[in-house]
Amino acid sequence: MAHLLAPSLLAADFANLQRDVELVNASAAHWFHLDVMDGVFVPNISFGMPVMEAIARHAQKPLDVHLMIVDPDRYIDTFAKLGANVLTVHAEACTHLHRTLGAIRAAGMKAGVALNPHTPVEGLRDVANELDLVCLMSVNPGFGGQSFIERTYAKTRALRAMLEEEGASEVLIEIDGGVGNGNAKALVEAGANVLVAGSSVFRAEDPMEAARQLAEF
Ligand code: DX5
Ligand code: ZN
Repeated sequence: MAHLLAPSLLAADFANLQRDVELVNASAAHWFHLDVMDGVFVPNISFGMPVMEAIARHAQKPLDVHLMIVDPDRYIDTFAKLGANVLTVHAEACTHLHRTLGAIRAAGMKAGVALNPHTPVEGLRDVANELDLVCLMSVNPGFGGQSFIERTYAKTRALRAMLEEEGASEVLIEIDGGVGNGNAKALVEAGANVLVAGSSVFRAEDPMEAARQLAEF
């Protein structure tokens, strides 16, 4: 399967949000990646429901929502109503992850789990069949523009192998943080299906061309 590109609007110009949403609509990218942060699970606060609602009014591609918040179960139905297509929670923020994944699917969304760089993939083995996507954080979550953690290649291969063993080969592997031209191909070769890209798209001299290069290879 060809890989997907999900530009992260965290790196967009929030004073020109509609312009940057239209840029993604017109680009070769496949999804919108929306980073919701609560200032508790991560040391930063990004945006929440009203901003997501404004984005959803203009976005013409699926919304891939990455919740970096504690106790995300409280907001599953809210994000479904806002139009999220993929809802990703952090394993480290969920005491009852199996239940949370079931609730996300029951609300009509694809269920994703994100893992911090220190969290082993093996912890997802027992929920491999309740998952639609695993987001491997290739930086510590909270900020855009950080440098890629090289260990992510090995982690991607280990996750791909584990998913095959569990009969869950259709689960998408997403890589989030520090992704750009220098590592995109190697990540897809290692087994990644979705590349999140913030700075490498929106801070590029020509964001449309940057998105094309990351989407089409
Ligand atoms: C980080 C976010 C990322 C971030 C990636 O906590 O989850 O999605 O926007 O930004 P870049 O691509 O600049 O590393
Ligand atoms: Zn993200």
